Amino acid sequence: MALLEVRELTVLYPVAVGLSAFFSHRFLVAVDRVSFSLPERGTLALVGESGCGKSSTGLAVLGLLEHVRGEVLFRGKDVLKMKGRELREFRRRAQIVFQDPYESLNPKMKVKAIVGEPLAIHRYRAGPDRVGEALELAGLSPPEYFLEKYPHELSGGERQRVAIAAALILKPELLVLDEPVSNLDVSIKAGIMNLFRDLQDELGLSYLFITHDLADAFFLSDEVAVMYLGITVEKGKTEVVLSCPLHPYTEALLSVAPGSRKEKLILAGDVPDPLNPPPGCRFHPRCPRAQTECAAEPPPEIEVGPSHWTRCLLLAQGKRHDET
Ligand SMILES: Nc1ncnc2c1ncn2[C@@H]1O[C@H](COP(=O)(O)OP(=O)(O)OP(=O)(O)O)[C@@H](O)[C@H]1O
Ligand SMILES: [Mg+2]
Repeated sequence: MALLEVRELTVLYPVAVGLSAFFSHRFLVAVDRVSFSLPERGTLALVGESGCGKSSTGLAVLGLLEHVRGEVLFRGKDVLKMKGRELREFRRRAQIVFQDPYESLNPKMKVKAIVGEPLAIHRYRAGPDRVGEALELAGLSPPEYFLEKYPHELSGGERQRVAIAAALILKPELLVLDEPVSNLDVSIKAGIMNLFRDLQDELGLSYLFITHDLADAFFLSDEVAVMYLGITVEKGKTEVVLSCPLHPYTEALLSVAPGSRKEKLILAGDVPDPLNPPPGCRFHPRCPRAQTECAAEPPPEIEVGPSHWTRCLLLAQGKRHDET
C-alpha cells in the first residue's frame, strides 16, 4: 500500500470580487482534481511555475486548508475526515519544511526551544537528549554549540537545518518539503539536498518535494508530477518524464532549464487568470502545438507508457507531436 494516495484533490480559495460595497465571493480553483500516490521511502516531486498550485497541494495533503475536496489517504485513512486524536497523530507523522528559514523560525526563540517546541505542542515526554539528537540528524554538530543560539546568529543553511531538526523531532514518516532550498546559495543548497537523501536512507522517510527547479527534482525524486494552472499535465517516473517529456508544457519547462541543450521553447503570454481558466485544455492558449480542437474540451488523462500519464488531446488521439 502506498504511504499516501491522493485522489481527485481539489483546493478552493474564496476570493472577494467587485467593489467593496457590493463585493461577493467567488471560489478560485487552485488545485483541480489532482491525483498521485507516494510510496513508502519514496519521493514525488511537484513541479511547475509560480501559482500552479504546488503549495496548496502540499498544505491540503497535511489537512491544513479549508475548502478541500477529494481524498488524501495516509496509510489508507482519509486525512480530510480525521478528527481529534487521529488527526493529532497524523500531524505528528507528517511534517513540513518551508522555503524561507528566515520567516519560518521565531527570531526570539533559541534553537533548543525551536527544535523542542513540537514535543511540547504534542505533549511528548522525551529525554533531554532528543533535541540534540534531532540537531545531529540535521547535520548540526556538536549540538551543544547550537542549542543556545538565536536564528540571527546562524547562517542561512544552518537555519534551514534547524527547521529540518524541528520537523524531524517527532519522528515523522512523511515530510512535505516546500521549496526547501530555493532561498539558499548554491554551495549550501547541495549540502541540504544531500542531507535529504541521507535522511531518507537512514530514517525511511517519504517526501512530497515541491520545487520549480527541475534539476532538484531530478536529483531527489523517483516520480514527478508536472502542474499547470491547478492540474497535473504529466506525471510518471522522474527519469522518464524529465528525459522524454511528452506534454508540450513539460517540454517547454525543460527546454528553458539552466544548462539545457534543447532548442528553447518560449511560451507565448502569461499564465492565465486562475479565476477564469481557458476552456478546453488549460494550456492551449500558450501551447506551441495547439490545434483548434484543443479549445473544445479538457483532454482526458491517458497512460502513454508504463506508469506515465499525460493530458494532451493530440497524444490521446494518437497523433505524435512531430506529426502535428
Ligand atoms: N490564501 C489564498 N487565498 C486566495 N488565493 C490563493 C491563496 N493561496 C494561494 N492562492 C492562489 O492559488 C493559486 C495557487 O497558489 P499556490 O501558492 O498553491 O502556488 P505555487 O505553485 O505554490 O506557487 P509558488 O511557486 O509561487 O509558490 C494561485 O493562483 C494563488 O494566487
Ligand atoms: Mg508555493
